[in-house]
Amino acid sequence: MDKNKLIQDYKRYVMPTYTREPLVIVKGKGSRVWDAGGRDYLDFFPGWAVSGLGHAHPVVVKALLLQLKKIMHVPNNYYNELQGKLARKICEASFSGKVFFCNSGAEGIEAAIKLARLWGSAKSKFEIITMEGSFHGRTLAAVTATGQPKYRQGFAPLPKGFLHVPFNDLGALKAKINKKTAAIMLELIQGEGGINVAGAHYIKEIRRLCSQKNILLIFDEVQTGIARTGRMFCYQHYNVQPDVMVLAKSLGGGFPIGAIVARKKIADTLAAGTHASTFGGSPLACAAGLAVFEAIRKGRLLTNAQRQGAYLYKKLEHLKEKYRIIKEIRGMGLMLGLELRQEGRPIYQACLKKGLLINCTHSNVLRIMPQLGVKISEIDKAIGILDKVLKREF
Ligand SMILES: Cc1ncc(COP(=O)(O)O)c(C=O)c1O
Repeated sequence: MDKNKLIQDYKRYVMPTYTREPLVIVKGKGSRVWDAGGRDYLDFFPGWAVSGLGHAHPVVVKALLLQLKKIMHVPNNYYNELQGKLARKICEASFSGKVFFCNSGAEGIEAAIKLARLWGSAKSKFEIITMEGSFHGRTLAAVTATGQPKYRQGFAPLPKGFLHVPFNDLGALKAKINKKTAAIMLELIQGEGGINVAGAHYIKEIRRLCSQKNILLIFDEVQTGIARTGRMFCYQHYNVQPDVMVLAKSLGGGFPIGAIVARKKIADTLAAGTHASTFGGSPLACAAGLAVFEAIRKGRLLTNAQRQGAYLYKKLEHLKEKYRIIKEIRGMGLMLGLELRQEGRPIYQACLKKGLLINCTHSNVLRIMPQLGVKISEIDKAIGILDKVLKREF
């Protein structure tokens, strides 16, 4: 394969929406990926949290291959048995509710917003409050909900009815709530925003306020969901329940799928004809989703995420003691961030050169989210690379 020609094709034929590294990934297995030249990399940010079980997990691959031979797509004016099964699995693992299936995080956020608007319409409630620093996706409503102005620039006029307040600031939130408030939507750990963790008291109080004032509480678990933080869903660390939860990314173990779960009474607001998604809940996507649940159970991946997460955290703390450039380590389970006292991009790029894939967000936060089955030896190797990079370059 001619890498330069491929890059030229991208330049000529693919819209330039992404900043890409000159790396052509052709294969993946577990925590590793291979480039077109046969070099392997340790992937500690697999698919931006999509490949939560690692690459080519055998349980997911087997389920997809089996389903491929049966039927790929069943339109939603008929039943497909896997959609019902996956909906049941999600509800049994979370709270008693009903599921709507779609294909991505932003599409799930759109569904949650539409649900909140329709639910609130009879009560003249339509406003949705979200947090500064949040990220909810790139469709027009999701990007308006996102509490970072840079993502909205140039796209006006934007949908109305979205208010943003500082994250982890209860007073600011209380001041914005009014009789038009239909929903409060937030990530429990802001991923793209720099691994900012919501406080326990803050979340408890938001739950109390929502119940008291008849406001929907929506948790965006697109990145935190599916065992990432050491619980199946991050809200389970907080001992509260949302009214609506949005899932995507690793729900399909690499296969595109999105979903929202809403408490039963609220879910029934989305009556026939109010919302739809042609590809949503296809047998193939649901086969992948069911395989993800099975793989997590069989592989004891929740325990692994807790144990390896604690080990990784400890190792990162050691690096922090060694290098002044590291200001803080944040996160839960296998969703960790290192806030630096300087730009993170050179470190991220030096790691890539040495064969370690991580992410840099918010210009100075390194985001590290290895797959749920990550091994101690892989963590040690990744820490070794980070150590070398920090020692040599900073
Ligand atoms: C918390 C959160 N919500 C929503 C989204 C949007 O998901 P998607 O890119 O699948 O539309 C993302 C993507 O990074 C995310 O992290």
